[in-house]
Formats: sequence, C-alpha cells, structure tokens
Amino acid sequence: MLEVKNLQVVFPNGNEALKSISLSAERGEIIAVIGRSGAGKSTLLRCINGLQAATSGEIILDNENISGMGQQQLRLVRRHIGFVWQEYNLIERLPVITNVLTGRLGYNRGLGSLLGYFDRTHREIAINSLERVNMLHRASFRADRLSGGEKQRVSIARAIAQEPKILLADEPVASLDPELSLQVMSDLARVARDVGVLTLINIHQVELARQFADRIIGIARGQVEFDGEPGALTTSVLDRIYRFDHQLTPVVSSVTQFEAEANSA
Ligand SMILES: Nc1ncnc2c1ncn2[C@@H]1O[C@H](COP(=O)(O)OP(=O)(O)OP(=O)(O)O)[C@@H](O)[C@H]1O
Ligand SMILES: [Mg+2]
Repeated sequence: MLEVKNLQVVFPNGNEALKSISLSAERGEIIAVIGRSGAGKSTLLRCINGLQAATSGEIILDNENISGMGQQQLRLVRRHIGFVWQEYNLIERLPVITNVLTGRLGYNRGLGSLLGYFDRTHREIAINSLERVNMLHRASFRADRLSGGEKQRVSIARAIAQEPKILLADEPVASLDPELSLQVMSDLARVARDVGVLTLINIHQVELARQFADRIIGIARGQVEFDGEPGALTTSVLDRIYRFDHQLTPVVSSVTQFEAEANSA
C-alpha cells in the first residue's frame, strides 16, 4: 500500500532532514512516528503528501510513484490523502459541516464547487464523518466557536470525508491538554480502525503512541532507528531514539560565532 524507499531530503541550505528512510505499510495499519524534535517526522509526512519534494528515493502509494509527480498529478493524488494538522486548519468563520464538506472538494468538480454546492452524496458522507467523531450535534456551529478538542475532531471528520487511502496526522494532539489528548487520540485511532485506513501519526507522547498504535516507527537523525510493535519499544530502544545528537554541537558553535561577530561589529 505504502512503500518508502531510501527517502532522502536535503534542504537548499544543506540541511539533511532525511538521510535514508525506508518503510512499508499496509492498509488498516495505525503507525505512530516518534522521535526528537528535528528528527525529520514532519518532513517525512510532507513528502508522503507531496508537499515536500524528495532529493532522492521513492514514495509509492497504492502503486503510484508520488516522488516523480508534477503539481497537477499531485493535486489528484492529494485528494486521497487525509491530513490532520496540529493547528486544525479549519476555516474558522464557516460552519462545521461546510468545513467537513471541504474534504469533498477534490471530488466536487465544476460550477457546483465554485458555488459551494454539494450534492446529496457529498452531504451524506460529510454527515456520516461527523457522526463518527460524535460531532454531528455541532454541524451548524461556526468553527471558531469550538473548543480545541472539538476542532480536532472536526478536522478528523474532514480528513475521513475525503475517503482517503492514507491518513497523515502531524502532532494532532500537541495543542491539547493531557486529558483531551487522550480522548482525541482515542477518537482518531477508533475512526481510523473503523474505516480501515492506513494512518501515520507523528506524536511526541510515547505513552499515547504505545496505547493507540499497532506499530511504532522511531526516527533519529533522519533514519529509522526502530520499527516494531509497541511491546518491543524498550527503554534502551527509547534511549537510542531520543539520544542527544552530538552532531548538533557544530550548529551551536556557529551561533556562538555569529553572536561574537555581531558583538564585534
Ligand atoms: N525549509 C527548511 N529548510 C531547512 N531546514 C529545514 C526546513 N524544514 C525543516 N528543516 C530542518 O529539517 C530537520 C527536520 O525537521 P522536521 O520538521 O521534519 O522535524 P520534526 O521531527 O518534525 O521535529 P518536531 O518534533 O519539532 O516537529 C530539522 O533539522 C529542521 O530544522
Ligand atoms: Mg514536526
């Protein structure tokens, strides 16, 4: 279903965010991606979504090679990729139901979509998605009236309304308190299981990863350091994933140098 082969991303400033990532995943798997800040988790998801171009390597989603695609093709593929953002990315002034319907935009072509008109099938899918996250009672609320946890549930509904082949979530609970984090992760995992969609979740809370994912991928320094069941994530493995990266030291010294230069100027 998803095949990532030797994925490398080097940014124009020479920063190698991903060194060589390889993984494969099947329909229905729920995978938590963990790792230190800067390990490359977001870059990996952005590559799968086609928002970030790979320097080398391949990403194959459902037999289509995403890494070699132009913008137009990517737009078509992206309608099958659900994305849940840390900051929800809802259209704040619009009602909840309209926000969820935007998940159907990729399927709603022509004049209808320009006028914001969605036929019955689209509406039924949107309503069904809201029901899955227990938010149907808020369908006519403006998005900016919702609490953080409710907003994230709506954004999960929007992603599910896309009927995605893959669902990507980049730190979906990082803006929520511990209790809500638990609830929203639980909703996300339950909905993903119900619809059987392959799901990748970047997350900093290791305990939530263990609790809700079938599989955990630990990334360190742009490489896969661990890939296995939550039960195999021992403290020594965690130490390897979260170990202080001595390679970062030169960055610190160049900042010091920069400050010294600034002071002497
Ligand atoms: N546009 C960019 N140009 C240069 N370097 C970048 C760019 N975007 C990200 N990076 C660097 O790439 C590395 C990986 O970043 P990424 O955002 O993927 O990490 P992350 O694991 O998601 O971190 P966090 O947990 O803080 O979200 C970091 O060193 C980051 O500074
Ligand atoms: Mg990130």
